Amino acid sequence: MAQHFTGKNVYITGGSSGIGLSTAKQLAALGANILIFARTRERLEAAAAEIRKHCRSEGQKVSFMEVDVGDSENVNRVMAGAVQEFGPPDLLINCAGRAYPHYFEKIGYEQFDRTMKTNLYGMWNTTAALVPEMKKKGGCIVNVSSLAGLIGVFGYTAYCASKFGVIGFSEALRSELKRYGIKVAVLCPPDTDTPGFAVENQTKPEETKEASKGAKLMSPDEVARQLIIGLKKDRFIIIPGFDGKITWLIKRLFPSLVEAVLDGQIRKVQKRLKNTQAGAKT
Ligand SMILES: NC(=O)c1ccc[n+]([C@@H]2O[C@H](COP(=O)([O-])OP(=O)(O)OC[C@H]3O[C@@H](n4cnc5c(N)ncnc54)[C@H](OP(=O)(O)O)[C@@H]3O)[C@@H](O)[C@H]2O)c1
Repeated sequence: MAQHFTGKNVYITGGSSGIGLSTAKQLAALGANILIFARTRERLEAAAAEIRKHCRSEGQKVSFMEVDVGDSENVNRVMAGAVQEFGPPDLLINCAGRAYPHYFEKIGYEQFDRTMKTNLYGMWNTTAALVPEMKKKGGCIVNVSSLAGLIGVFGYTAYCASKFGVIGFSEALRSELKRYGIKVAVLCPPDTDTPGFAVENQTKPEETKEASKGAKLMSPDEVARQLIIGLKKDRFIIIPGFDGKITWLIKRLFPSLVEAVLDGQIRKVQKRLKNTQAGAKT
């Protein structure tokens, strides 16, 4: 596995936390040079220090740069600087992301806009800034979508719109970039125990919580491990974990069954909530 990544330049947006950080640490352990990007300097500094501890050799480079992926001018400027200082990426991982789950009418335009800017425009911006450089020597681009980029999830209208978009973008890009020796993959993690996931839980509707109750929460380290295996195997869609893979398979084969099961769970919770509210009133 190390052979695959030793001495390679890896750029990871959202590399200061969660899945991005775990991936950075594991790729550092496989000998890659790591450059992480996010908005908050203190978190970037702390993450870079952590990643350095995982390096195999002293010659490996680990660095960070502040960027807001949703701001195309900022991305163009920062990525140009990154290429000059660090050299172009062999592997670009677009992992920066956010979610604000809520009932559709409670999400509002501002949250929808922020979600799209980070998850969809952000991926577009970094890819657009770096593809001209990557075309010179080939490489790989990983776009982080979600299981909610394959299946519409209650409470996730804005997020699903962005993550379904990531998959469509990646499929189209994949066929365009083949001739330049650039591979494209999408990572579709299930619920994963990260700082971002903890924030999501604060606004998640009860119906969503109920639907995901039985599902196992994955660790970001395991998601990163499976991403690296998927890359090694040249997979296009990488779904970490058995539950996620089986859910997607059933959804493709029996979409009405998945809809019926989810609708049933949602109805049950809504009935319970109605009874609780009625009880509180009397
Ligand atoms: N956790 C899950 O259950 C789960 C499941 C499926 C898919 N995913 C996807 O996996 C990715 C990582 O999720 P996570 O849970 O690991 O998230 P996380 O712990 O919240 O980390 C998000 C990272 O993205 C950065 N970021 C956010 N907005 C940014 C922006 N506008 N510009 C640059 N960087 C930005 C954050 O740093 P700053 O805030 O400092 O910028 C941080 O480094 C996301 O794309 C998410 O949608 C997560």
